[in-house]
Amino acid sequence: MNITPLAESFAFEVTEVDIASEINEKDFSAIQNTFHNCGVMLFRDQQLSEKQHIDFSRRFGPLEIHIARQYLLEGHPEIVVLSNKVENGKALGIEDAGRFWHSDLSYMHNPSLGSLLYALQVPPPEAGGNTPYASMYAAYDALDDSMKERLKSLRAVHSYEQRWQKDANRGMQRTQLDDNEREMLPEVSHPIVRPHPITGRNALYINEGFTVQIEGLTESESQALLDELFAHSTQQQFVYTHNWRAGDLIMWDNACVVHSASWYDPAYTRHLHRTTIAGPA
Ligand code: OGA
Ligand code: MN
Repeated sequence: MNITPLAESFAFEVTEVDIASEINEKDFSAIQNTFHNCGVMLFRDQQLSEKQHIDFSRRFGPLEIHIARQYLLEGHPEIVVLSNKVENGKALGIEDAGRFWHSDLSYMHNPSLGSLLYALQVPPPEAGGNTPYASMYAAYDALDDSMKERLKSLRAVHSYEQRWQKDANRGMQRTQLDDNEREMLPEVSHPIVRPHPITGRNALYINEGFTVQIEGLTESESQALLDELFAHSTQQQFVYTHNWRAGDLIMWDNACVVHSASWYDPAYTRHLHRTTIAGPA
């Protein structure tokens, strides 16, 4: 097995490894180490059954069952389907996983540690659908000292419902939330500078998708600072953009990376499976 950095970025490619066959402890711990210290890892040309995808994911921690129940894979609820396929009039998956910068489940009290997305069918590169990732370790490190000092004790509110409302207002395909789901999704707040739960290293923990308000600031102060941080953290020098091929598995650490889905030409099928690692309690 080899772990090599992808050009000028915080993402790494793991080669000479077959996830479908059991990865030994030594290699696994090298993967885990790079994962939490760097943020994004790519494995190409993998042939994974649903079970192999789930088993590998579980080695990083217990898995979440996504709240979008209707898009869970039948027989394997640990997998949520991202897809634009429609069968018998029914959408097989989430067509667009969030075309805004976000960190998965940051709106939960206990946000996700990481996600593993496996591509079964993707559009050709010129038809869109790539995924940009931004390193929130790097974004934090690049702040000047006075900004680090200012952010040190601030917390921000993250809300799924407010994001949902914004998307619904723009006419995007959004499934209705029922009362049960609303109850599972109270507004939560997290420190803006959030030490990584495993490495302890500081990362910026705000994202355009779900972070709505900084506590203790006026609405306009809060929005101005959030906008500044959103723009800062997604600058090109902190970003790796992945162009998908079928057979790619990418795992990203949600505590130190934000990512975004991109537009793709709906004439092509895009079909992927995602598992989600729960954050440590
Ligand atoms: C996700 C996600 C981006 C994409 O699965 O959490 O945001 O490009 N996916 O599909
Ligand atoms: Mn996501």
